[in-house]
Amino acid sequence: MPIRNPSPLFRASPQSAINNILMSSPDLTDTDRQAVLEVLNTPSLSMGPRILEFEQAFCDFSGRKHAIGVSSGTAGLHLCVRAAGIRAGDYVITTPFSFVASANVLLFENAVPIFVDVDSRTGNINPELVADAARNIRKYLPRRMPPDTPHTSYASLKAILPVDVFGQPADLDPIRKVAQEYGLKVIEDSCEALGAEYKGRKAGTLGNYGVYAFYPNKQITTGEGGVIVTDDDQAADFMRALRNQGRAVGDTWLQHTYLGYNYRLDEMSAALGVAQMARLDELLKKRELVAAWYTERLAEVPEVETQAVEPFTTRMSWFVYVARFDRHIDRDSLAKTLEGRGVPVRPYFAPIHLQPYMVERFGYRPGDFPVTEDLGARGLALPFSGVMSEAQVEHVCQTLRAVLRGK
Ligand SMILES: Cc1ncc(COP(=O)(O)O)c(C=O)c1O
Repeated sequence: MPIRNPSPLFRASPQSAINNILMSSPDLTDTDRQAVLEVLNTPSLSMGPRILEFEQAFCDFSGRKHAIGVSSGTAGLHLCVRAAGIRAGDYVITTPFSFVASANVLLFENAVPIFVDVDSRTGNINPELVADAARNIRKYLPRRMPPDTPHTSYASLKAILPVDVFGQPADLDPIRKVAQEYGLKVIEDSCEALGAEYKGRKAGTLGNYGVYAFYPNKQITTGEGGVIVTDDDQAADFMRALRNQGRAVGDTWLQHTYLGYNYRLDEMSAALGVAQMARLDELLKKRELVAAWYTERLAEVPEVETQAVEPFTTRMSWFVYVARFDRHIDRDSLAKTLEGRGVPVRPYFAPIHLQPYMVERFGYRPGDFPVTEDLGARGLALPFSGVMSEAQVEHVCQTLRAVLRGK
């Protein structure tokens, strides 16, 4: 296929770039690197001015009163679970089609994830099933409760934890309605969706708490890191204390009001985050362009279904580019062949309920969440980042087409 719409971002890739296509790659400038080096020339490597700057950037971005920088998205979600008062035996409605961390944080507290299946177009939690589960929780309980789970009752339903999958917001309005009706907290896992918008509102700001994550494949990176945003003053104080070994406001270094963790984000990471946040719009636009290059080319491949973007998604924040293949295609052998030809790909996601430790704990079986399993069996994340060139995308698509044609 000829290369269309040459843009300022198009780089005539030398053969070496075509031969070195990465699954993902951070988008860093010399200014970003300089920001980290400057920290190293100061004595403040943790709990200094950069974390405060980074948090302020997130208050400005999200419009929320509080932003709490943490060492990872997982740490952020765990603190939200603690702040929501979720305890051993409590139920939380969530999705099995996600990265494992969104369910793991419930297990950290011995709470019980109540999985409901997802929408087949977007992969996001199905709001009708969320409503049904809140009405009729017994229908959705896992087959087996682990022996260490305390006796639970209907009143144990505490929260909903939707995930904004692949950078697209979950359908949050009906979910918030269920939460209101049943007095539940909403923890929005926006770890994949920094910058996405739902009906003009920012993903991550649609529940009681929202969490963003910054691993190097994310829209911005801090190396490792995450941020929680919330308007809840009390929860914010509590989460700040828990992230810092349980030291409440006014505690000295060796006073610990709560059982806490070391979930702090260091100053080098925070400085990189500040520099990256200043480029957020540019970073999102580059990813949008790369996604558009893929979508244009894959539209012509009949065996491939590309990501559906719902009308309520007023901005998609592309995290990964997942192609979904027809059921007659052996996705795993396709993946192997692509890898063999220098195109890295990843099955995306592997259903959470079928992970060995989940099966052992709750007795899940194949067939329990058919939409999740179908999406999980047919999806492949293609190489994706804001620094990919159009020629690299063209090469991936050409290779994919050739393999599908048996060439
Ligand atoms: C949906 C989702 N939730 C949570 C996380 C956890 O973030 P982290 O890797 O920063 O702990 C991720 C990370 O990839 C994610 O994709």
